[in-house]
Parts: sequence; structure tokens; C-alpha cells
Amino acid sequence: MPIVVMGVAGTGKSTVGQLIAGALSVPFTDGDDLHGARNIAKMSGGQALTDEDRRPWLRRVALELRSQGGVVACSALRRSYREAIRELVPNTVFVHLVGDPATIQTRLSARPAHFMAPGMLTSQLSILEPLEADEAGIELDIRATPEAIVRTAVDAYHARLAAR
Ligand SMILES: Nc1ncnc2c1ncn2[C@@H]1O[C@H](COP(=O)(O)OP(=O)(O)OP(=O)(O)O)[C@@H](O)[C@H]1O
Ligand SMILES: [Mg+2]
Repeated sequence: MPIVVMGVAGTGKSTVGQLIAGALSVPFTDGDDLHGARNIAKMSGGQALTDEDRRPWLRRVALELRSQGGVVACSALRRSYREAIRELVPNTVFVHLVGDPATIQTRLSARPAHFMAPGMLTSQLSILEPLEADEAGIELDIRATPEAIVRTAVDAYHARLAAR
């Protein structure tokens, strides 16, 4: 079962995603690396991406997940973005990293240079649509250590596999 680690900027998708992939011995891909130059330029300029900007990116994310399997870090903020991934990779499970804005902002500010502009957090939180009951996945609190988050995610993953 392919895994997408989702959530707004600074919730730890890259950090936790990499660790989950390591724990499961599967490939890891950072969705940020699949953005086209235009999207990166827009985000660096502090502009929010439109759904149209996101469409080719989500397709690349889904194709990567389908060919490589494993774990992809991808914000997947809206249900429609997750549908775009599930359309190509129906058995995808989502790990949503959830935190309060203050904690996230502190972590974003402490982080070394990155193409995400500061105002992006507010815009991302405003479009976030959490997982709904019929979507395969779990929500994990980012106040836990990365190691604890990974342990919970891996346990949930194995439980889901066993239940199939
Ligand atoms: N559970 C955690 N506890 C403490 N610090 C964390 C935790 N998870 C991540 N961090 C730190 O918070 C910062 C943001 O994490 P990370 O870059 O992985 O987030 P991200 O969701 O990938 O962000 P982006 O969407 O901008 O790529 C990093 O400096 C990381 O080391
Ligand atoms: Mg990241």
C-alpha cells in the first residue's frame, strides 16, 4: 500500500515521510521535488498555487507513487487533490500530520532556507480539508517526536495490512 504523508507546510512531511520509508524499507519521494519551475517560482514569490498549477504536479506525484510505491511527502490539502492521487493509485493511504498554527510557525521559522515563503502557512491552513471518514488514512499530532510519530504510523500501517 503506497503512503502519502500529507499536511500543511512545516508539519514534518519530509522529515517523517523519510523515516517511515526507512522503517518500512521502501522508496521515499519528496513531492516538492516534483514541482515544475513555474510553481517553484510562484511559491518563492509568496504566491499561492492555484488548483490549475497543482494539477500537473499531483499527476506527477501519483505517477511516481504508482511506479515507485513506497512513501511520498505531499501536502494533499484538499480532498480533490487526494482524489487526483487515488484516481491513479486507488489503494493509497494518507498519513495526515496535524498541528496548531503556532507550533508549525515556530518550526518553519527555525528551519534553514527553503523555497516556502512565510505567508504560505495561512493560505495553506485556509484551504486544508482534513481526511473524511471514508478516506483511508490516519491523523497524527505533530507535538510527538518524529520517532514516536513514525512508530504510530508504522503500527497503523501494519494493522491495516493485516486487516485486508
Ligand atoms: N515531530 C517533530 N518534532 C519536532 N520538530 C520537527 C518534527 N517534525 C519536523 N520537525 C522539524 O520541523 C521543520 C519542518 O519539518 P519538515 O521540513 O519535514 O516539514 P514539511 O512538512 O516537509 O514542510 P514543507 O511543506 O515546507 O516541505 C524541520 O526543521 C524539522 O526538522
Ligand atoms: Mg517538505
